[in-house]
This record gives sequence, structure tokens and C-alpha cells, in this order.
Amino acid sequence: MRTEIAENAGFCFGVKRAIQLAEEAAEKYGEVFTLGELIHNEAAVAELDKKGIHAVSDVSQCRGKPLILRSHGVPAKVEQIAREQCSEVIDAACPFVKKIHKIAASLPESAKLIVLGNKEHPEVVGIMGNARCKAFACRDFAEIEYLFESGEIAESDQTAVVSQTTFDHSRFLDFSEKVREKYRCVKIYDTVCSATAERQESAKSLAQRAELMIVVGGRNSSNTRKLAEICGEYCKTVFVSSAEELSLQMIKDLRSVNAAGIVGITAGASTPADTIKEVHEKMNKEIITTNENEEDFASLLEQDQSFNRLYTGKRVKATVVSVSKKEAVVEVGAKQTGYILRDELTNDPNAEVEDIVKPGDVIDAVVIKVDDSVGTAQLSKKRVDAALGLEKLEAVKESGETIEGTIAQVVKGGVIVIYENTRVFIPASHTGVPRGGKLDDLKGKAVKFKIIEVSSERGGRVVGSIRQANREQRDAERAKFWETIEVGQKFEGEVRSIENYGVFVDIGPIDGLVHTADLTWNRVGHPKDIVKIGDKISVVVKSFDPEKKRVSLSAKDPGDNPWTKFSADYQKGDVIKATVVSITEFGAFAQIIPGVDGLIHISQISTERVADINTVLKVGQEVDVKIIDVDEEKNRVSLSIRALTAPAEAEAAEAEEPAAPDSEE
Ligand code: F3S
Repeated sequence: MRTEIAENAGFCFGVKRAIQLAEEAAEKYGEVFTLGELIHNEAAVAELDKKGIHAVSDVSQCRGKPLILRSHGVPAKVEQIAREQCSEVIDAACPFVKKIHKIAASLPESAKLIVLGNKEHPEVVGIMGNARCKAFACRDFAEIEYLFESGEIAESDQTAVVSQTTFDHSRFLDFSEKVREKYRCVKIYDTVCSATAERQESAKSLAQRAELMIVVGGRNSSNTRKLAEICGEYCKTVFVSSAEELSLQMIKDLRSVNAAGIVGITAGASTPADTIKEVHEKMNKEIITTNENEEDFASLLEQDQSFNRLYTGKRVKATVVSVSKKEAVVEVGAKQTGYILRDELTNDPNAEVEDIVKPGDVIDAVVIKVDDSVGTAQLSKKRVDAALGLEKLEAVKESGETIEGTIAQVVKGGVIVIYENTRVFIPASHTGVPRGGKLDDLKGKAVKFKIIEVSSERGGRVVGSIRQANREQRDAERAKFWETIEVGQKFEGEVRSIENYGVFVDIGPIDGLVHTADLTWNRVGHPKDIVKIGDKISVVVKSFDPEKKRVSLSAKDPGDNPWTKFSADYQKGDVIKATVVSITEFGAFAQIIPGVDGLIHISQISTERVADINTVLKVGQEVDVKIIDVDEEKNRVSLSIRALTAPAEAEAAEAEEPAAPDSEE
């Protein structure tokens, strides 16, 4: 048994050139950017990143910086924007690709262009974007026929056919023959790159002689996948992205190669030479071990009997072998190499692969696609998690429990929370955000919510409600509030609304009322003269009624009580100055100190009879008065002007006058 590397394996001329240009630019500028990954190989892209060659997805991400256009080429418009916005544009598009751009650009606007290839591949996008005429991407002859039958292309139109450079050359020749036969108006350009054709040809010739082929390259590289397909037609073929992935898979497959057999190795156009070398060395080492150890070989054969047969829908235990940005490679005890793409690992659009799994982890997964032609099986972890998550969420709904999760995404009509790897949709009306509010502000926030709907139909729809969880929490807080509230309890509150008779203050679960008279010790015209909405104020509970859900509060600070000051500084018999602050039918109130007014009863104003107080006193007038009575319990003070002029009469009148009210209100 021996290994053999196919001729023309690995980097093609165009990729080598692009990497060289990028490395030279990085050396010159220290840091350069590539529009998209320079090559379809994750390990190589990571290496380039370390060298200061960073991939961006849009020109706007590297304005004012040097930009490299990669070997796939770009649409003319993108190149124009790049030249306008970047400090320098280094065109590393492969010259073979540029040749196709020239063909496309040379066609008049009235012509039609057919590009054989994958319409989403950047090279095809670039070719179509260099044509001034209408361009169509087709992958098979039926699609070309449809263009003519539907009238998109008329027999009289000037029509050209080109192909993606990595298009299978034999298929291209087959197409060309059919197109030529049926549509004489069409001009066909053979633009399949000879490097691709040569690589495919040498892979095919090696696969015809080999018993096992190892195809090395990125799983997202179309030319590498194509190589695996070609090799798979002739012998058992394994598709790996690195030597690390070979491990058990390779050992399993080696046992099927007879003693004189060949194990072939080939690689895609974007596979670095180092990766091919590592695979080659590992293969050689395993072959030696296998040849030397008959017993191990027998035990492997035995082990083979127990290898899993994989089929779509099968649940398996998978051991993570390696992780990259795009996928996790897993071992599932089967002959295929298992892999789980990032989007099949989790429902969380923000999570990275390495945040979810690490090498050595054993996870539950389900097989979603088996491709024996390339020896791979695609699996999904999120679908298993989602099924388990659905069961858990069903139980959460039944129990009415409140659960917690982070808002991962804002979608049309609501937000998505990922819980137990299951997407929970929270409609906008259940987010607690007021109508017209911005849902975007919720993204990334941890929230508590209830499950209000779990349906296994409609792909396992789960609906949650933050609003319901908030409401329940508020109810619980209110119940606790009424259980623990006491007169004299202090709160820090926020003014919610202002009425003529007082202000409502948010003290947590409920709003309490501070009557105008309880806002301050001083006289108040309107509450809005004292506070405004949003003010934070200290309040104390005066009284409460749990039945009517009412709490009466006071914002007066006992430490500022003017009656304490009055008692300390004044007493009955003192002659003082006071200022008239209001006039009523029965007398005038005069302020002694701020917060303490005394009543000058109508009978205590003068020795003469006073018919109308307004003819004797005016608001704002300062008068000399005598304190003739102090009722400390009721906080009332009686004053007299008359006592200063006729003390004896005043005393007699004092004995007869009715009790003064607390205030004129
Ligand atoms: Fe160029 Fe051919 Fe490579 S077109 S990029 S040399 S595969």
C-alpha cells in the first residue's frame, strides 16, 4: 500500500498570484484588506489574517485603506466604488477571469450573455456585473432552453456563452455541442480554466488507479467539491479539510485498500501546500502502522462491524473533533466524516461555533444529509436541542413558570429569545415596549418571560410574553406591599402626575397621593409651584386603605417642622411683627414665621367695630400683634392688634371669640 499525490493538486496560478500580491501589499502597507476571503480555505484565510491581510465584506469597511480585489474578480460597479473610496486598489483578479470580463464588457447592450455556473458564486457575480447587456446564469442545458422558450432570448439576439472558470470541462463541451446544434445564433467561448481542467483530469486519472482517494480542501470551495465528485465516480473517496479530520475516518478506510493498492491525494485550487503535505505525512504514517500491525488491523475490521449506518433522520452521539468559524467536524462512529454547519449548531444568530462546542465534547445530533460520493454526513445539533427544548417549554407553559433568556434578534412583528436552543417568538405587543417604541433597544437584553403558546405544528412554534411576566411580578410586589405597609414608612418616590389637589408619587408597586397641604410646611398656591413630573422626592406614609388601594403620603420633613421652631422661640403674651397673608370674613391670617400663621379675629383688629376687614388691613401689610393664645395640640395661634391699644377689652373679647380654624381653607 502506498500514497500518491495527484499532479496539479493545490494552489493554481491565479490563487498563487493573488496571495503573492496580497503579501507584497501587506509588507508595504502593514495592513491590507481583501473584498471577501482571498481563497476558499479557512486555515489559509486565518494565516493571511495574522499577516495583516484582513477580509471585509464591503468596501465601506476599509475606506481610505488599501484594498485587494481577489482572484474571482468583481462587478465593474464594485471596482469603481473601490477606486473612489480606497487609498489604493490592487487588482488580484486572475487574468483568466479578467479575460471573461472583457468578453462580457464587449457585448452591446442589446446582446444577451449566458454564464454557465453557479449564479451565487462570486466569480459568476463578477462576470455578470461586467456585462452591459442582460446576463443569465445557467447550470444545465434545460435552463438555457427555457431562456429561449420563454422569450427571454430570441433566436435573432446576439447571444454569447461563457463559463465559470471552474466549470467541469467535459460538461462544458457537452453543453456547447447541444447549444450549437439547437441555437445557431449563439457564440460560445470556452473559458473553463485549463488549471481546473488539468487538476480534474489528473485527479480522475489517479482515482482510476487508486483504491482510496483523499480530497483535501475547504468544504465551501466549489472546485474541491467537484474534485471529490469526480474521484467518487471511480473509487472510495474521502473529503477532508485538514489532516486533523483524517484520524479515525482514514484508519477505517485504509483497511479496504489491499496490500499493493494506492491511496491517492488531491486538493482544490485554494488548498495550501502545507495542508496537502500534512495530509500526505499522516497518511504515510498510518499506512506504516496498519501494515505493521495485523492485530490492530483485525480489530479495526471487527470494529467496522459495529460502525453505524447513517441515514437522514438518525439520532447519534457525536464527538467534536475540531471547530472552525463555519462548522464543527464530528466523529459519529460511521464511515462518513460528520460535520455540523454553524447554522445547524444553534438558533442563536450571534453565537460563534467555538462558544457552542469544543473538541472532545460529546453531543446529541441528527443526520440531515449523507453524501456517500464524498464520504460526508451533515448533521444538526440545533434540531435535537429544539425538540428537547420544545418539550421543556411545554412543561414551562403548563407550570406557568417565569423563565429568563436573552433577546437574540429583532424580527418583523416582535423579537426572538433563544431558550434551550429553541427560538421563542415574543410578539411586539407582548414585549412591554409601548406602541411605536423601538424594539431594537431590547437586543442583547436579558428578559423574564412566560410561555403562552407551544405548538408542535408550524415547525414547532413557541410564543412568549414579557408583558405577562411583568404583570405577574407587579401583582406579587403589590400583594407584598399591602402586607408590609405601615404608617410612618418612608419611600423615595417619583412624581408621576400633578393635580390641583396634590401629586401622585410612584413608590414602587403603586402610586400614592401627596395632598397639596402635605407637600411642604409652607403655604402652597398650586402643587406645580413646588414639584414637576419626574422629580424624585422623599415621602412618608400618612395613612392607607388596602381595600380601596389608596395610600396617603406626606412630603413634609419632620425636621423642618416650623411649629417646633415656633414653640422654641415664641410664647403667649409676646408682642411681635407679622405679615397679613390672607383675609377672610371672620378675620385675617398673618404669618409669624414661614409655615406658622396666626389668626387675628375680626374682634381683635380694632377697638372700633370693623364691618369690612379689607378697609383696615391689606394682604402683605406688616402689623404689630400680640400672641394672645397658643394651642400646641391643634397648631393654632391667636393674635391681636387691639390688645396693644386696649388690653383689658381685648382680653374680654378673646374670652368671647369663637375658636379659629386651622387655616382659611
Ligand atoms: Fe485563475 Fe484558473 Fe485559478 S482561472 S484563479 S488559474 S483556477
